[in-house]
Amino acid sequence: MLDLFADETPWQEPLADGAVILRRFARAAADELIKQIENVAQRSPFRQMVTPGGYTMSVAMTNCGERGWTTRQHGYLYSPDDPLTGKPWPAMPQAFRHLSDAASAAAGYRDFCPDACLINRYVPGAKLSLHQDKDEPDLHQPIVSVSLGLPAVFQFGGLKRNDPLVRIMLEHGDVVVWGGASRLFYHGILPLKPGHHPATGDIRYNLTFRRTGKSE
Ligand code: SIN
Ligand code: FE2
Repeated sequence: MLDLFADETPWQEPLADGAVILRRFARAAADELIKQIENVAQRSPFRQMVTPGGYTMSVAMTNCGERGWTTRQHGYLYSPDDPLTGKPWPAMPQAFRHLSDAASAAAGYRDFCPDACLINRYVPGAKLSLHQDKDEPDLHQPIVSVSLGLPAVFQFGGLKRNDPLVRIMLEHGDVVVWGGASRLFYHGILPLKPGHHPATGDIRYNLTFRRTGKSE
């Protein structure tokens, strides 16, 4: 298929202290990443998790790697097994690892070695309320977040829930990396607008790479 943007050179936009947007960084790898998402989801299907407060999340999730993020009655945790299948989460695909390594290096985080990837699937209307990524034991390790398919508005704030928010449109292939001073900044995704994307149809995927075990 003719892709007018296939040759677009990636560029960087600073977001906050320790945080940067790598525009279009994952675009060349996007088709392979999407294929691997589908592979993972065949073994550990997307599911809408229920929060400890009893709220069914609008975003559907699955995981790959050594551990996966799941909700529990009394909180959140990284589990080595998928509670839905009772089996370990699928291994992290090579293409995922390569992309995360390249993105973290481009953002200046040279020693990031993710052992988990949360995969989010948004359909129109799905959103992710403001939250911090704070379930990881080593907060020196950044988060690498990859957007695929339909665009979405990302909100990025500060250490307090009511700090001012910036709103950024994240498009197919954009990567956001946050760590250091902004590692615990609140962030979220506004309700996805309906649309069609040639790579994913009416869906937005997001990959977040995390270090969930002790770093070497
Ligand atoms: C997340 O905060 O885990 C995902 C953010 C996104 O979907 O871009
Ligand atoms: Fe998050």
